[in-house]
Amino acid sequence: MVKAVVAGASGGIGQPLSLLLKLSPYVDELSLYDVVNTPGVAADLSHISSTAKVTGYLPKDDGGKAAMKDADIIVIPAGIPRKPGMTRDDLFNINAGIVKGLIEIAAEVAPKAFLLIISNPVNSTVAIAAEVLKAKGVFNPQKLFGVTTLDIVRAETFVAEIAGKKTGSELTIPVIGGHSGETIVPLFSKISPSVTIPDDKYDALVNRVQFGGDEVVKAKDGAGSATLSMAFAGFRFAEKVLKAAKGEKGLVEPSYVYLPGVPGGEEIAKATGLEYFSVPVELGPNGVEKVTNPLTGITEKEQTLVDACIKGLKDNITKGINFAHNPP
Ligand code: NAD
Ligand code: LMR
Repeated sequence: MVKAVVAGASGGIGQPLSLLLKLSPYVDELSLYDVVNTPGVAADLSHISSTAKVTGYLPKDDGGKAAMKDADIIVIPAGIPRKPGMTRDDLFNINAGIVKGLIEIAAEVAPKAFLLIISNPVNSTVAIAAEVLKAKGVFNPQKLFGVTTLDIVRAETFVAEIAGKKTGSELTIPVIGGHSGETIVPLFSKISPSVTIPDDKYDALVNRVQFGGDEVVKAKDGAGSATLSMAFAGFRFAEKVLKAAKGEKGLVEPSYVYLPGVPGGEEIAKATGLEYFSVPVELGPNGVEKVTNPLTGITEKEQTLVDACIKGLKDNITKGINFAHNPP
């Protein structure tokens, strides 16, 4: 029996993500947690004739604990989204505390769960989560993931457009680093099957992948950021984690992980000087089976992108760690 939790389930991402999880054959119990509206969202989803049993919880009566108790996977899209003119880091002051609080509950009632962090700024919130789990003595780096799948989905879509392909979903494109602007690094030299990006289109394509989030924020004009594409991406990653947990092999997707704690991570930590980095992750029954070093054999242009990424990520990570130790 697999119990999945969505924390932030009533929001723009939370609702469509919960819908997709409700339809998944890999979920038996779907538990929805939010500070508002979960009874309604849960009642609505519960009328769908798929197998997962749906329940909704609010904070009253220790609802967070009830919602997460003994969960196998907890997906967290709780927190405020950007408005035009904001960076993801501008969300830190509010979302850092939200993620910290939710991970504290998870650490207590579901210490073995896979934890998938969507809440921005992912570059910092994952470090906060890790520090909270460490302090509670239940940190398993193989089970903590920053969800960067939307960057990969965007790269697949934008590359397919340029390459004249009907769909990008058959392309494997490593997008590594972090999840904000120049910390997002697409490695187009490693697309499989190989696609040649014309020189005159390269810079604009990199920029579109790095700033795809801004494109949506601008188009939504104050009504938030990507929700539907994020729900798709979050579900794609969550379902891969669940499939791997059931024994399916060969499932690889980049994710932002704690390098010193995962097989293969030390080498990348050494090369980047960073503890956290999004890298291709091979998933297994225990989460991260191993990570592969995406930095070998990259082009000069890609190395320049990686250098800029490392600079930006360093501060984001330190900010998350400091917050976890000294919350305001
Ligand atoms: P939203 O405002 O529509 O929904 C957020 C939900 O979180 C709301 O329903 C809110 O009530 C809930 N919430 C707030 N505090 C909570 C708490 N303590 N416990 C439980 N729930 C709580 O926002 P959204 O558009 O769904 O975006 C959510 C987050 O996801 C934002 O931080 C956004 O930046 C981020 N995001 C990340 C990615 C990514 O690629 N990782 C992509 C898109 C959005
Ligand atoms: C995205 O990439 O769409 C998300 O991180 C939301 C945002 O703020 O852009």
